[in-house]
Amino acid sequence: MNTVKSNVKIAKDVYLMKIEGHFEGRMGQFYMLRAWSDYPVLSRPISIYDIGVQEISFLYHVVGEGTERFKQLEAGDPIQLEGPYGNGFPVVQGKVALVGGGIGIAPLYFAAKQLQQPDIYLGFSRESYLVDEFRPFAGEVVCDVGGIIVNQIDYTRYDAVITCGPHVMMKALTERARGSGAKVYVSLEKRMACGIGACLVCSVICQGGNRKACVDGPVFAAEEVRFDAEHGV
Ligand SMILES: Cc1cc2nc3c(=O)[nH]c(=O)nc-3n(C[C@H](O)[C@H](O)[C@H](O)COP(=O)(O)OP(=O)(O)OC[C@H]3O[C@@H](n4cnc5c(N)ncnc54)[C@H](O)[C@@H]3O)c2cc1C
Ligand code: FES
Repeated sequence: MNTVKSNVKIAKDVYLMKIEGHFEGRMGQFYMLRAWSDYPVLSRPISIYDIGVQEISFLYHVVGEGTERFKQLEAGDPIQLEGPYGNGFPVVQGKVALVGGGIGIAPLYFAAKQLQQPDIYLGFSRESYLVDEFRPFAGEVVCDVGGIIVNQIDYTRYDAVITCGPHVMMKALTERARGSGAKVYVSLEKRMACGIGACLVCSVICQGGNRKACVDGPVFAAEEVRFDAEHGV
């Protein structure tokens, strides 16, 4: 059991929670979090936003029962973490673009800190948040509120594009980047139950058959994923 250090509102329904302790993790990996005993039954997968000295932080959007419980946590409250899980983002060479949509920016901050000055594209539907946090680790930072961020990218400038966000955004990005020479990696937010490959809840329809988002992903090469057959989360 770990202890909440802080849990701060960042924007409407968006919170940044810090938890005390020594934690491991690579960019793009996630933890399964629970702050209750019996109900809800399942822990909730949340990406690593950052890892510091004796703390880990998570950026989360309040959408339902589990994240509503997270929102109510205060400093000193207990919380249980399991992980890190998942494959994480690949360590790519060359010029990289990180593209986040809404709460999909969550795993990109930890990635931005580890890659070589990637360009960062952040798209929000109503309200932007944490954009300035990215600037020290970025080449260029492009922020769009209410528009279509994937239309603002010249994909030919990049060797690799790493993206996390709504399914429709990642599908559109993959189509626009086709033929540009940029290798695209998508982080898929599938619903999960066990998080360790045992239940098949998180199946992703891929070219070679079904794969598990929790252990084979959540990061996939975009060309592997059958976006036409996958209908979001
Ligand atoms: C690998 C991974 C990393 C994630 N990282 C983050 C993160 O850093 N920050 C964050 O806010 N969220 C993240 N998510 C999504 C997060 O797990 C869900 O929002 C959360 O489980 C919802 O729980 P809930 O009990 O609040 O909502 P529920 O009551 O379970 O569901 C409420 C609504 O949210 C939708 N929902 C449920 N699970 C997911 C899901 N996995 N993805 C998208 N929508 C979902 C449901 O369809 C429903 O409409 C991640 C998901 C995965 C798989
Ligand atoms: S969540 Fe159970 S197999 Fe992926």
